[in-house]
Amino acid sequence: MKTFQLGKDLARLAVLQRSELTSPKLKKIRKLFGRYLFTNFFSKIFINPAEIGDTYYRVMKNELDTFSNYLNKNQNYLSIGSGIGGLEVLIHSYFKGCKFSFIEKNYVSKKVKYGWDEKNLEAYNNINLLDTFLLKNGMDSKDYDIYDYDKDILPLQKFDVITSLYSLDYHYDFSFYIDYLKKVCSEDTLIIFDTIRAEYFYSVFQNVDIIKEDSNTVHKSKRIACKKFK
Ligand SMILES: C[S@@+](CC[C@H](N)C(=O)[O-])C[C@H]1O[C@@H](n2cnc3c(N)ncnc32)[C@H](O)[C@@H]1O
Repeated sequence: MKTFQLGKDLARLAVLQRSELTSPKLKKIRKLFGRYLFTNFFSKIFINPAEIGDTYYRVMKNELDTFSNYLNKNQNYLSIGSGIGGLEVLIHSYFKGCKFSFIEKNYVSKKVKYGWDEKNLEAYNNINLLDTFLLKNGMDSKDYDIYDYDKDILPLQKFDVITSLYSLDYHYDFSFYIDYLKKVCSEDTLIIFDTIRAEYFYSVFQNVDIIKEDSNTVHKSKRIACKKFK
């Protein structure tokens, strides 16, 4: 597998979740018509799913390479804010026997605003499309469950690895999840996420490794791998 299979709807969601997937042509159209008209109208016409599938695959493979040395076969994963799930499809194909729980939101904000989201009201996903993506790209329905953050009781089991790329503590405060995470973490659970305040997490966890630094982006975030709540 060297690309992801996407229809137009999935390609549009992927572009909302990952701005680096926007081609120069799409960027020009967005600049010309503004974000609202672009998201709700023009992106439906001009998007190229095959091109987005290739780029999304490459971007997710690079992300996985930043922490694949921490992962193993037969692990139980929790993914918070996975987007359409490309990272998890790759983990599933490289590390056999893994199971996944996804927690996501099931709506796209009317006018998507990126950045810090004080009340955690911003969302850009569709749980049916997340399910479609996983099945289309080789996952088996028995290997995963999807939970709607706003409606479902969240899964209460111990996870080996918890991932949240550019979601938890990048767009909304870690405190929204801290009580829940304490219940589903064992002494060995690894939590990997992106944050703009890595230093703060030395007071939350006993072990904090910095595994990636994004100094070129506006937000200057770090990706950290943490273990053991204090
Ligand atoms: C910037 S996207 C990142 C998607 C993906 N992790 C990636 O790296 O491509 C942030 C994702 O977090 C989701 N999200 C927002 N609030 C959430 C919450 N409280 N719980 C779970 N997911 C959430 C959004 O719907 C969106 O899919």
